[in-house]
Amino acid sequence: MLQLSYVLVYCALLAPYYAYAQSRPELTKPGECPKLPHPLPKPTFKDKITIVGIFTNIKSTTPGSAANLRQCEPGDFKKTEGHTLIGTDNKSYFLFYNCIEFNIQGKKTHLEIATALVVPKGPDPGTDKRFREALDKNKLGLKEWLPLCKV
Ligand SMILES: *[C@@H]1O[C@H](CO)[C@@H](O)[C@H](O)[C@H]1NC(C)=O
Repeated sequence: MLQLSYVLVYCALLAPYYAYAQSRPELTKPGECPKLPHPLPKPTFKDKITIVGIFTNIKSTTPGSAANLRQCEPGDFKKTEGHTLIGTDNKSYFLFYNCIEFNIQGKKTHLEIATALVVPKGPDPGTDKRFREALDKNKLGLKEWLPLCKV
């Protein structure tokens, strides 16, 4: 599962991975990427921050414990082109929506996730309500939280 999460984040942040998504139909939804009702303006941020996990449609097959995850390693706030900000307090967390559109057998399909970035000792997206509220406000399913590391 960690590998899957890694692939999702890697893909959402760095590169398209159509072949992978096509092999996992449960990850995709028919039609074009939705236009979000409540996107936020592009953020600027200077402190260290980490991608701590993603919200997806896939049920995690591993127990939800973050206990055996590695500690998050904060890095610089990277470019966020192609990512829509949907939730932030401008200082401790950012939640981005990512959607990739592609064709499967001539039909438009899309894959969506939301990526959570949190500063050291910041909020836990798995339990902090503000993350769910941002998803709900934008009418996004993405109910499963997959942590990638410990905040
Ligand atoms: C975050 O910053 C943006 C842009 O400066 C501003 O529009 C927004 O209201 C701020 N949000 C919060 C929660 O402070």
